[in-house]
Amino acid sequence: MAEPWKIGMFQCAGLMGSWKLPENRSTQFLDLGHWIRMAQQLEDAGVDFLFFADDYGYPVVDDGIPATAIRGGVQFPKGDPTMILPAVAAVTSRLGLVTTLSTQVELPAMVARKMSTLDNLTGGRIGWNIVTGAGQNASARLFGRALTDHDKRYEIADDHVDLSLKLWEGCWDDGALLGDREGGVYADPEGVREIAHEGPHFRSNGVLQVPPGPQRTPVLFQAGASAPGRALAAKYAEAVFLAAEVDALTAQIADIRRLADANGRDGSAISCLIAGTFVVAETTEEAERIRARQTATKSLDDAAAQYAFFTGLDLSKMDPDRPLDPSAGLTQTGRTNVERFLGPDAPTVREILEEFQANSVMGKPFVGTPAEVVDQAAEVLARTGANGFLVQPDHTGTFDSFVELVMPELRRRGLAGHQEEGETLRERLTGGSAHLAPSHPGAAYRRTTALV
Ligand SMILES: Cc1cc2nc3c(=O)[nH]c(=O)nc-3n(C[C@H](O)[C@H](O)[C@H](O)COP(=O)(O)O)c2cc1C
Repeated sequence: MAEPWKIGMFQCAGLMGSWKLPENRSTQFLDLGHWIRMAQQLEDAGVDFLFFADDYGYPVVDDGIPATAIRGGVQFPKGDPTMILPAVAAVTSRLGLVTTLSTQVELPAMVARKMSTLDNLTGGRIGWNIVTGAGQNASARLFGRALTDHDKRYEIADDHVDLSLKLWEGCWDDGALLGDREGGVYADPEGVREIAHEGPHFRSNGVLQVPPGPQRTPVLFQAGASAPGRALAAKYAEAVFLAAEVDALTAQIADIRRLADANGRDGSAISCLIAGTFVVAETTEEAERIRARQTATKSLDDAAAQYAFFTGLDLSKMDPDRPLDPSAGLTQTGRTNVERFLGPDAPTVREILEEFQANSVMGKPFVGTPAEVVDQAAEVLARTGANGFLVQPDHTGTFDSFVELVMPELRRRGLAGHQEEGETLRERLTGGSAHLAPSHPGAAYRRTTALV
């Protein structure tokens, strides 16, 4: 029998997809009630986690944010998802909560402190999506910094994660927190120490003030499938998010797992989750009608702004009948969405725009009845070797149709509702312990392993 799917749900604290449709509720992204209702629905549905994408970026064209992006709500506006997490944690008890922090923006000690606090507040349900960051050209403008070269950003990310792991794993021994009021000993000084880090980009002689949560290190996710992105995933990630055509996905997944094996990890244990758009209704015709309405909300100008956000490239200034110039692959903004459109069968610029108008970065949608979309998606899993999906919000900006139509179909087929036992996100997602696997580089920074 096929393995149960791992299922995460994709959101950002901003407008989602077809926000212009009257039924779309993503315009409520600054209303806490919106997030609380969604989290409760997802907890009841039995999915693995709610994920928040995040970045400080926005489209930049001709040295500024284009009017199209502001008018059309393209990767703009956005709030800060870390502010939403404690509220949704308070109304759920099992749902995993995964959020994104960029290694270009947040310093390691900041990431370590925030994530460790959240691991405690959520009872061990937190995950960190490690990204160098989409929209880096905009982010550089916002922070008044020069744009760091693409590959250097990944070198920085490697050093960042290394130091963050030392802070999570190395500062506090298990059992060091005593809370002994009578003896007047809050924590055992023998069990708490400063770590030392002298990396190529970061230094620290410091102690993480937050005592470890149930997982110590958040579950480590990674997104960004350029070559150095895959290398980073193979070194540290316990789960990766991917979006591309099936052949490209298959190659990316095989590459990440092979590199992880070469690093002495078990590549097959890395959960590979594909961005999945499920356009589902009671009938195929109705699903296709919804799909057409969704696509019609986006103009080609919106698509160009979207593409500029991810890549720093302005397709509207290129010859629509020719493919991308190979030099586009050297962009210093994101590369995943350039590399996937280069090569022998490269599409024309017009075709790329049409692809972004229809699907943005998320690849081909599954369209049809519950049985049809599950068949289509199961085939993609079988072909790529992926473990499940990061489900995109539907035309409502939420997951109503997935929860009401797809989850029952998955349960009927034994593909959902079999979550692993355990209190923490790591136990449920990996089937292992609450802490990093012994072969993970972070495990080497632990001083005591007695309780692991
Ligand atoms: C499903 C999915 C979710 C992603 N979430 C984020 C995110 O939250 N923040 C971000 O900066 N990049 C995110 N990315 C990655 C970006 O698309 C982009 O590839 C990356 O930030 C730039 O790195 P690259 O040069 O390796 O492509 C996501 C990718 C996928 C497939």
